[in-house]
Amino acid sequence: MSTRVILDCDPGIDDALAIAFAIGHPGIEFTGITTVAGNVGLAKTTANALAVASFAGAPGVPVTAGCPAPLLRPALDAGHVHGESGLGGAVLPAPPHGPRDGHAIDFIIAEIAAAPGEITLVATGPLTNIALAVRREPRLPEWVRDFVIMGGSAGRGNVNPAAEYNIWADPEAAAIVFSAGWTVRMIGLDVTLRARATAAVQERMRSFGKLGSELMLPALAQYADSNDSTGEPPVHDVCAVVSVIEPSVFTYTPALVRVETTGTWTSGMTVTDFEATGSPNALVATDIDADKFWDVVLGTYGSLAGSMDQRP
Ligand code: RIB
Ligand code: CA
Repeated sequence: MSTRVILDCDPGIDDALAIAFAIGHPGIEFTGITTVAGNVGLAKTTANALAVASFAGAPGVPVTAGCPAPLLRPALDAGHVHGESGLGGAVLPAPPHGPRDGHAIDFIIAEIAAAPGEITLVATGPLTNIALAVRREPRLPEWVRDFVIMGGSAGRGNVNPAAEYNIWADPEAAAIVFSAGWTVRMIGLDVTLRARATAAVQERMRSFGKLGSELMLPALAQYADSNDSTGEPPVHDVCAVVSVIEPSVFTYTPALVRVETTGTWTSGMTVTDFEATGSPNALVATDIDADKFWDVVLGTYGSLAGSMDQRP
């Protein structure tokens, strides 16, 4: 029984690796990709999503573009981390087609409304599209099978000591999302910084044919994540997709998460209260079995590489 997934993302190197994992894992039915401005501008995040899906052998996964900027704040990209294109040093063939007509918000609402309880919504970029979707359709939290984000941190941030990039980029959107009535499964820096593409991992990627040589390795080679002083970049977004299909990789603790939107030095902070009385709004990932994570991820990439290399 496969799990239907919509991935809202801002490719972005680790988003690209998350897309490849979702395509490669047999337990995931990839219902669609929606894109948002974040790591790079919307035109590039959309082009990158199309290129990665096609390169990985799934040109039929619909890609729908969303918001070009945060709700209120100016768009502040992370090109210094993901490179000017958003895919680091990876240069992929042009995809056979462009994005679907329409807006990501409408795609998310329509697909989830048509299949209540069936679709897991995963967000690995700023939460602008998600915030507007739940504002337009407040019943979305009732209809999703699950809602997972790569974002936030119960501890330190990565943009500054307080804030993680996806939340920092659009804190007003994140505040709307965390107060929409669902339980947010928050895969934050607390665990993603322990999912590093080590030298041994990258050595394994060399055996993945063009998936390794044309996408993964050149992308990772230019992934200048601010937490990466080791040359072993964290694959943050892959964690969110893995959590959908391999729940035992992560351990969760219920919490009340509030998003700071007015702090001079703390805007975008996910203020995480594990002791709050009353009902929690989040399950915060507080541990990761990193060995199991990489077993699943590299196994999936290996089978994807095999299927890709069979094609002309
Ligand atoms: O902080 C890491 C997150 O910000 C990842 O999703 C990365 O792709 C960037 O969007
Ligand atoms: Ca991302």
